[in-house]
Amino acid sequence: MAEQDLFSAEYLSPEVQAELPEGYKLRALRRTDFDAGFLDCLRVLTTVGDIPKDKWEERYDWISKQDGTYFIIVIEDTNTSPSRIVGTGAVLVERKFIHNLGSVGHIEDIAVAKDQQGKKLGLRIIQALDYIAKQIGCYKTILDCSEHNEGFYVKCGFRRAGLEMAHYH
Ligand code: ACO
Repeated sequence: MAEQDLFSAEYLSPEVQAELPEGYKLRALRRTDFDAGFLDCLRVLTTVGDIPKDKWEERYDWISKQDGTYFIIVIEDTNTSPSRIVGTGAVLVERKFIHNLGSVGHIEDIAVAKDQQGKKLGLRIIQALDYIAKQIGCYKTILDCSEHNEGFYVKCGFRRAGLEMAHYH
């Protein structure tokens, strides 16, 4: 594994990489992605806040210690100089007692830069996260989304199941 990558490249789907547009690269998040527009990419999803670099590094280092649990991928557009992160997504692996020590993948924080939407990058991100979950041995992958995005996830092969509830603190 390249020293700066959050996780090993063996978890990256070669099929997804092959389907990306020319010059777009699927890879694991890196500590240096603070300077590659990672947080700006996330801003299309929700409020991120004004995070200073030292706090980013502190959080990145904590995440990188959650071995085999926390996978954050990015799609980098290397056609621009400097290159820029244009998409991201995460899958968290929950290891259970039930279902014979089963594991579940939780998909979180999917974002594609505004000017890059509609190029199938969102679909590729979901496929890449599903690939990771399967490699780990998850028996299912789940996520919460707004009604507005239901059609997108249906196109990605998901179906409505259950009801989300929240208790904000
Ligand atoms: N509703 C219905 N269909 C949609 C939607 C939508 N909101 N968005 C995309 N689609 C369709 C596309 O038309 C396409 O259909 P096609 O195969 O018939 O052509 C298919 O889904 C794949 O679309 P992509 O091009 O891969 O979508 P894109 O790259 O634009 O990414 C995404 C979609 C991630 C929702 C993007 O618009 C985005 O970042 N939005 C803002 C942030 C956001 O809402 N993220 C999801 C939050 S939920 C979570 O994180 C678990």
